[in-house]
Amino acid sequence: MMLPYKRLLRPLLFQVPAEPAHKISEFILKRKLIWKILSQYYMVNHSVLNTSLSAIPLSNPIGLAAGFDKNCQYLDSMMRLGFGYVVGGTVTLNPRDGNPKPRLLRDRKNNSIINSLGFPSHGIQQVISNLEKERVSPLILSASGFTIDELVTCALKLEPWSDGIEINISSPNSEGLKIFHDPHMFREMLSRLNSNRKKPLFIKLPPYDNDKGQDQVLQLVNVGTSLGIEGVTIANTKPITEPKLKMGKGGLSGKPIFNDMLKMIKDVRNEVGAAIAINACGGISSAEDAILAIKQGATTIQIYSALIYEGPGVIKKINLGLKDYLNKNNLDSITQLANIEPI
Ligand SMILES: Cc1cc2nc3c(=O)[nH]c(=O)nc-3n(C[C@H](O)[C@H](O)[C@H](O)COP(=O)(O)O)c2cc1C
Repeated sequence: MMLPYKRLLRPLLFQVPAEPAHKISEFILKRKLIWKILSQYYMVNHSVLNTSLSAIPLSNPIGLAAGFDKNCQYLDSMMRLGFGYVVGGTVTLNPRDGNPKPRLLRDRKNNSIINSLGFPSHGIQQVISNLEKERVSPLILSASGFTIDELVTCALKLEPWSDGIEINISSPNSEGLKIFHDPHMFREMLSRLNSNRKKPLFIKLPPYDNDKGQDQVLQLVNVGTSLGIEGVTIANTKPITEPKLKMGKGGLSGKPIFNDMLKMIKDVRNEVGAAIAINACGGISSAEDAILAIKQGATTIQIYSALIYEGPGVIKKINLGLKDYLNKNNLDSITQLANIEPI
């Protein structure tokens, strides 16, 4: 019995503006017993889906993207929807309110979301106390900050609670992050992390845009690879202007960013070969989308908007589609699909 999301829950949630609707979803997701009971309907356990992200073993390649459970309050429920791993956060060192509202919109015609949240976070202390209560694995924690000190401290404090860290230098709603798009600052930040870290490190990249063309983003990938990062997540939301948001601009997610995401994966693979893992993130909502991303060179898939438009059953749908595709093509694993061995 899967929840009748598209027929019942989504029409109800879509009656409510996007940010309160997310709060309602969070309220439901915090009822952990429900998800414990429902998990048997969402889980897909097939060895053909087993893979790894750097040295982290995954039961399947589908991950929850950063930003859904920013304060790590219901990651256990998310895992029970059938994800192979979850990304919690983005977490900041100090509590932050984020940007003024309205700051979250749906564009239903295009199956997309536009946000200008600007990192609302309960801060690292509260997040760690949430993680203390409940260990979830495999767990990547997304960290950010506005100075090298702040970002490095945040990441290193989160590291013991995670299987790996994803550094968010790419939210378009926090101008201050752009300092890390400068290759010297980026190198300095990674060197500081490298002197102290023990776990895999992933960088969430910005998409190409007018500010940061392809060359600049690929330069960051090259710096990261030369300094031994384990992977990149391609990519964060696409900066756009949107007068309905209080900030007048925000980041676009969902279907409209899918093709750019595919191209970027291909470019990064061409640039660095199999040296790093790539987490594909941007408009993926079906097994067909996931297969295209893996064929371009993705190691794993991350989803956010598809959860809003397709509901919690989407993870199972993607996993079953992937499994069928592999079986039909006599492939033993998703790495054969990508033709790239996991690192
Ligand atoms: C409301 C919202 C909040 C987000 N917050 C974060 C965040 O805190 N950190 C981050 O790295 N990405 C964040 N993202 C970006 C997503 O992780 C993802 O990169 C983007 O939505 C593209 O994936 P999708 O098309 O599957 O949604 C956010 C996206 C949305 C829609």
